[in-house]
Amino acid sequence: MDLFEHEAKELFALHGVPVPVGRVATTSAEAASIAAELGGRVVVKAQVKTGGRGKAGGVKLADGPDEARALADQILGMDIKGHTVHKVLVEQASAIAEEYYVSFLLDRANRNYLLIASEEGGMEIEEVAAQRPEALVRVPVSVLHGVDDAFARHIAEEANLPASVLDQTTDILRKLWEVLVGEDATLVEVNPLILTAEGRVVALDGKVTLDDNARFRHPAHAQFVDVAAADPLERSAREKHLNYVKLEGEVGVIGNGAGLVMSTLDVVAGAGEAFGGIRPANFLDIGGGASAQVMADGLHIVLSDPSVRSVLVNVFGGITACDAVAAGIVSAMEMLHAQGERFDKPIVVRLDGNNAEEGRRILVEAEHDLIEMSPTMDEAAKRAAELAAAAIPGGA
Ligand SMILES: Nc1ncnc2c1ncn2[C@@H]1O[C@H](COP(=O)(O)OP(=O)(O)O)[C@@H](O)[C@H]1O
Ligand SMILES: [Mg+2]
Repeated sequence: MDLFEHEAKELFALHGVPVPVGRVATTSAEAASIAAELGGRVVVKAQVKTGGRGKAGGVKLADGPDEARALADQILGMDIKGHTVHKVLVEQASAIAEEYYVSFLLDRANRNYLLIASEEGGMEIEEVAAQRPEALVRVPVSVLHGVDDAFARHIAEEANLPASVLDQTTDILRKLWEVLVGEDATLVEVNPLILTAEGRVVALDGKVTLDDNARFRHPAHAQFVDVAAADPLERSAREKHLNYVKLEGEVGVIGNGAGLVMSTLDVVAGAGEAFGGIRPANFLDIGGGASAQVMADGLHIVLSDPSVRSVLVNVFGGITACDAVAAGIVSAMEMLHAQGERFDKPIVVRLDGNNAEEGRRILVEAEHDLIEMSPTMDEAAKRAAELAAAAIPGGA
């Protein structure tokens, strides 16, 4: 989960990293009153989960409350790289003497963490990284040793930071590492980390990505979940503990095991080419122990997606045998029917593996008019794509 800048800075402050004083506003009147409260010059900053806000005109300096109101009016509702601005951060303007760059990130390829630092931070960091990669210091950080003062200081020196900021930067690097470890983040980035005219080092921007797999360890992170932005289907899937990701296509996909579902998406997209570009509508892995309830929840989510025209259930029976899955599908349809759900979308089922024959027999005997079976994954995908295309008004 990516955080907004103001949320990242809340975590920074919690771990003792200096950040400017500021608050979030959702209206221009609120922005004006925060500016009045702060006094002096403020910066109005679009809160969207994408970089390059400054270049897009989403970060503006205001002399006082009136200008802050006008700027907030301008920035709220703005579109920055496909993200609509719903809130702005109004914070004290800093007098910037220098801009640096620091980040910690998970380096999956090397099974390690990486610290990147540069004396040339700011809005041009991408250009610097592309044209003069030597201007960025990149060092692996061992999870076992972490970041102590000596290491942090050494890196700050390597990055050519002036001697006068070494003490403060050392402290900040150690604390940013504590943010990464303590909050279970996979990315902690500060660009720019500034030196103010008064000689203070401050995190002026913040980007944090939290590891969702560790969310159970951080009840406090629940406040960061962006309910408004979440896809409603994904939200209800999460409530039911389903592994669901909404995609753009027309064929709903349900399978057991992430690998099988991923390849099912590919096969559906491949088969769909012959039917005018039919594509998978979602990823849904119902996992190993697919009970009737889990199948019912899964079918319900997938069938209630208005862009779904047909469904492909692709199950390879392993520990959970196909007969149990088939029985699950049959009772799931009964459960949905009993709940008054009226779906008329065709469902293609491919069962293979443990007890597949018995599973198919159960589905044949159920004689459900929306369910048909296909012997292989390729044929099932082709049939599901064909049915989806036929269901599109004016389609094949
Ligand atoms: N509180 C602030 N005071 C003064 N200048 C700021 C402040 N916040 C941001 N800026 C300036 O705006 C630039 C862009 O802001 P930043 O938060 O880094 O957004 P982005 O990285 O999305 O462009 C910064 O590099 C800095 O020069
Ligand atoms: Mg920035």
